[in-house]
Amino acid sequence: MPGCVLRKPRPIILVMVTIICAVNVRSAEVTCPSECTCRTAYDADLGHILRTTCTRGDMHTIPVEFFDRTGEVIIIGAPKDRPNFLTIGPIFTQPTPFVNLRELHIVNSNVPSIGQYSFWGLQHLRLINLTYNNLTSIGADNFRGLINLTHLHLDHNNIEQMPSETFRHLTSLKTLTLSNNQISTLVPRLFRMLAKLTYLDLGDNPLDDLNPEVFKDIQQLRVFKCRRCLLRRINTQIYHLVSNLEELDLGENQFKYLTSDEFISLKRLKKLRLDGNQLSVIVDNMFGRNRELKLLALGHNRLALLAPAALANLTSLVHLDISHNKIDRFHLQTFAPVVETLRTINFSGNNLALAEIAIVLQILPEINDVGLANLALEGIPPNFFTYNEHIVSLDLSWNKLTKFPFRLLAKARFLQRLDLSHNKIERLEEEDLQRLEAIARVDLSKNLWRCDQCSAGTMLVYMATTVLNGTIRQLTCYSPLRLRGIKFSDLSFNVLDSCSSSHEAQMSVLAGLLLLSVAVLAAVAGALCCTRRRAAQYYTNEEKRRECEHDHPDELLNRTEVGTVATIHAPYQLVSKTS
Ligand SMILES: *[C@@H]1O[C@H](CO)[C@@H](O)[C@H](O)[C@H]1NC(C)=O
Ligand SMILES: *[C@@H]1O[C@H](CO)[C@@H](O)[C@H](O)[C@H]1NC(C)=O
Ligand SMILES: *[C@@H]1O[C@H](CO)[C@@H](O)[C@H](O)[C@H]1NC(C)=O
Ligand SMILES: *[C@@H]1O[C@H](CO)[C@@H](O)[C@H](O)[C@H]1NC(C)=O
Ligand SMILES: *[C@@H]1O[C@H](CO)[C@@H](O)[C@H](O)[C@H]1NC(C)=O
Ligand SMILES: *[C@@H]1O[C@H](CO)[C@@H](O)[C@H](O)[C@H]1NC(C)=O
Repeated sequence: MPGCVLRKPRPIILVMVTIICAVNVRSAEVTCPSECTCRTAYDADLGHILRTTCTRGDMHTIPVEFFDRTGEVIIIGAPKDRPNFLTIGPIFTQPTPFVNLRELHIVNSNVPSIGQYSFWGLQHLRLINLTYNNLTSIGADNFRGLINLTHLHLDHNNIEQMPSETFRHLTSLKTLTLSNNQISTLVPRLFRMLAKLTYLDLGDNPLDDLNPEVFKDIQQLRVFKCRRCLLRRINTQIYHLVSNLEELDLGENQFKYLTSDEFISLKRLKKLRLDGNQLSVIVDNMFGRNRELKLLALGHNRLALLAPAALANLTSLVHLDISHNKIDRFHLQTFAPVVETLRTINFSGNNLALAEIAIVLQILPEINDVGLANLALEGIPPNFFTYNEHIVSLDLSWNKLTKFPFRLLAKARFLQRLDLSHNKIERLEEEDLQRLEAIARVDLSKNLWRCDQCSAGTMLVYMATTVLNGTIRQLTCYSPLRLRGIKFSDLSFNVLDSCSSSHEAQMSVLAGLLLLSVAVLAAVAGALCCTRRRAAQYYTNEEKRRECEHDHPDELLNRTEVGTVATIHAPYQLVSKTS
């Protein structure tokens, strides 16, 4: 019987032959509908709990009469493409309530409304999850009797209307999420009685504006999210009311400017997300009173400039994202306050020259995580990270790199994540592959991988024998044309053209059989010399092997590197004096 889960090989009592089975768990018998699974688990807070899970989908009624009424957790859901069509009502309270129920999840079930008194008598209920349904309005009577409820999740519904005091019975509520609804106004006293609320998510609602009045009732708020709320500004009186905020997410709204005292009330703020707005400048002392700020996301705005004192007082800042703006140069003083603490910085998608970035990086010796995507980089000097020994994560995607930056990465000893996707790399040498083996997460996809024996042969060997298996299998050939789009996992060495095959093919057609055999010999020699040690130890001719190798990219970059270093030194001294 599929719905029946046996925890212990103890006597099974069939109650209704095809619908229910009872399993001996805990002290009493547990009943379980055949379309659900019922398991006991150990919970650190609650001890042994019984969880009933019905997630096959296509359900039109909840087989609640076959549920075990002593259960603690009920999860009713459905796969995306097989939603349920359910109504609820007081089914969990009548005829006798689920006295132990702690968590109730009814998700992706097209529930149209909650009904009055639906949860009356469920005294232990702590969490209700009604996400992905079709609720259009909610009101106070829906939540009567839930004085101990701490978490209410109503995201992904169609809620438009919420009258004043909708949540007045939920006096213990700490977390309320209402994202992805159709809420356009917050009526006065909406949140009355939610004095304990610490987490509020209103993201993805067409709010336009936030009424400060409603925040009077939720002054203990610690986290407030209103991403994609169509906001153009915020009445700063709100910040004054919820001055204990630690996390504020206002990403992907329509802010054009921030006043210099915008966040002055939020002295405990730790995370601030303003990415995806239309900000064009961050003025001096913008975050002067937000001394505890650890994360500042300013990506995807229109910033041309961070003012010299834009980060003043941010002596705790760890993560800074300024990616996808229009920044073309920096004031070194800007970064002076964060020199000691900053660990991640994202420069991606700006109009920045590498030399500009190098200047900043050399005063940030503790940096772990650097975003250098989308900067039209064609190469990177090998000693670019000379001052940044601790790089763990590096994003170089969406650039124009034609060669694997071996000498740069040879020095980044702690590198664990590397994104080189969407570049123009054609091949990896054996030393490149050896370096990659030591990096835990690597993305090499969407490069111009050349699938001939000379270029791809070694990669195939590494795919077959090393930890790079998973990484290399996914790559697809770019050239020759006949192999474009073919995955490395579907390649074998003998379908590959020999090195420089096109030229040799023409020669052989012209010169006939004799020359053809010469060409074949040359090709075999080429294959031997390029397949390298791991392919098999069949080459010994060191000279021939050298001939096959192209100049290493870093050699080409040596010249630019000298220039860059020369320009970096002067401003660095300048900053060490000012900071
Ligand atoms: C609510 O929770 C408190 C503390 O956890 C508990 O003492 C009380 O019995 C609960 N009330 C109900 C109605 O469950
Ligand atoms: C709500 O339920 C769905 C399906 O079980 C689950 O994926 C999601 O994490 C739940 N949300 C919360 C906040 O518990
Ligand atoms: C969701 O609710 C709206 C308004 O009540 C209704 O028109 C629509 O048919 C419902 N959708 C589903 C899938 O039940
Ligand atoms: C930096 O913080 C100190 C102490 O909180 C404060 O006196 C000073 O005004 C702040 N600086 C700015 C620019 O706001
Ligand atoms: C910026 O880079 C960091 C890490 O390098 C990454 O986590 C973040 O998603 C990036 N942000 C954007 C907007 O690309
Ligand atoms: C490489 O991955 C494939 C598919 O995940 C697996 O079948 C194969 O055994 C792996 N080979 C090695 C050498 O790990």
